Amino acid sequence: MRNVQVPLGDRSYAIKVGGGLLSRLGLVCARLRLGPRCAVITDSNVGKHFAKAALKSLAASGFEAVLITVPAGEKSKCLAVVEDCHDQLAAQRLERKSFIVALGGGVVGDLAGFVAATYLRGIPFVQVPTTLLAQVDSSVGGKTGVNLKAGKNLVGAFYQPQLVLCDLDTLKTLPKREYVSGLAEVVKYGVICDPILFAQLERSLPKLLQRDVPTLRSVVARCCEIKADVVGQDETESGLRAILNFGHTIGHAIENSSGYGKFLHGEAVSIGQVAAARLSQKILGLPSGDAGRIEKLFVQAGLPVKIKLDAARRKKLFAAMKLDKKVSGGEIKFVLAKKIGQVVWGQKVPSGMIDEILG
Ligand code: NAD
Ligand code: GLY
Repeated sequence: MRNVQVPLGDRSYAIKVGGGLLSRLGLVCARLRLGPRCAVITDSNVGKHFAKAALKSLAASGFEAVLITVPAGEKSKCLAVVEDCHDQLAAQRLERKSFIVALGGGVVGDLAGFVAATYLRGIPFVQVPTTLLAQVDSSVGGKTGVNLKAGKNLVGAFYQPQLVLCDLDTLKTLPKREYVSGLAEVVKYGVICDPILFAQLERSLPKLLQRDVPTLRSVVARCCEIKADVVGQDETESGLRAILNFGHTIGHAIENSSGYGKFLHGEAVSIGQVAAARLSQKILGLPSGDAGRIEKLFVQAGLPVKIKLDAARRKKLFAAMKLDKKVSGGEIKFVLAKKIGQVVWGQKVPSGMIDEILG
């Protein structure tokens, strides 16, 4: 097992990465002196595979746990489901000392984290991420929240978990498309911070695609180290944390303008990262060899790197880019790469250039 620490003073916490960890959920919660009652919030897919094991482990360590299952999918990330979870917690008489376990992908993590942040003005919670995206990204760093009709993640709170438990064995049941989509965020860490990780990904992609646990342990732990380091320096995204959005300016706009669900997050972010690499070549002189390696890695992972755009879709994409909540004063700003492993944020890019590189 690998242990990564998120350094946030008295709100610091551990990320545990390894195989077979779900059976130790109760033990690690007991060590954190949580309890004695909790609610496991999961979704209808994840619950079928892992709710029993989570509840068994919690019971074996003396916790009294109730199960709350929400429908799988992005639609559950909404205020109506938050209210329903609050009502169930209140009906079960969960108290200030009770805690929540978020068992699932990014949807469950964001939702359950926000429920924990708001029930009784905040009770502790533990993240048990079961998608690759959630293990390397959404479960770490304390961004919780839900969507409004007006857009994604518009209501939320920075609220850190007590612990993140990444059981790599849970990834075995993840549909292939979801797993591959998570690889886009993995590659991102290499591009933004770590050329050695990037080269490791190039070498060990076949093993990663087979979901080989030792390879995953090293790669997921390294991604978590990078995220922990960034969050430790800039928890609320006043500067540095923006580098985690490499590829996301165009990626979010693709998701939004094509109707959520057509592209998975990682698929859109793969196209966005390749586009950001091309912009980086033009603006920061990213060597063409580096841009080529980035594109090749995504292609070999089985991720899309281009989007076909007719005039109407192009217009929608630009409108979505301007709506992004990271736009300030109407100006679209990008994270761009100088070389693999080094990026800068807040880069202004002329619309004409974005239009040109999208082809
Ligand atoms: P998800 O939670 O919807 O999971 C994807 C699908 O896989 C779902 O159908 C789910 O039921 C299923 N699933 C999950 N784990 C499984 C497993 N082990 N076996 C079988 N099926 C499984 O999607 P996601 O990609 O994990 O997360 C996307 C969400 O994360 C978005 O809402 C996004 O906004 C959010 N996000 C948040 C942050 C953050 O910092 N908080 C960062 C990135 C993304
Ligand atoms: N997923 C980007 C962040 O956590 O800041």
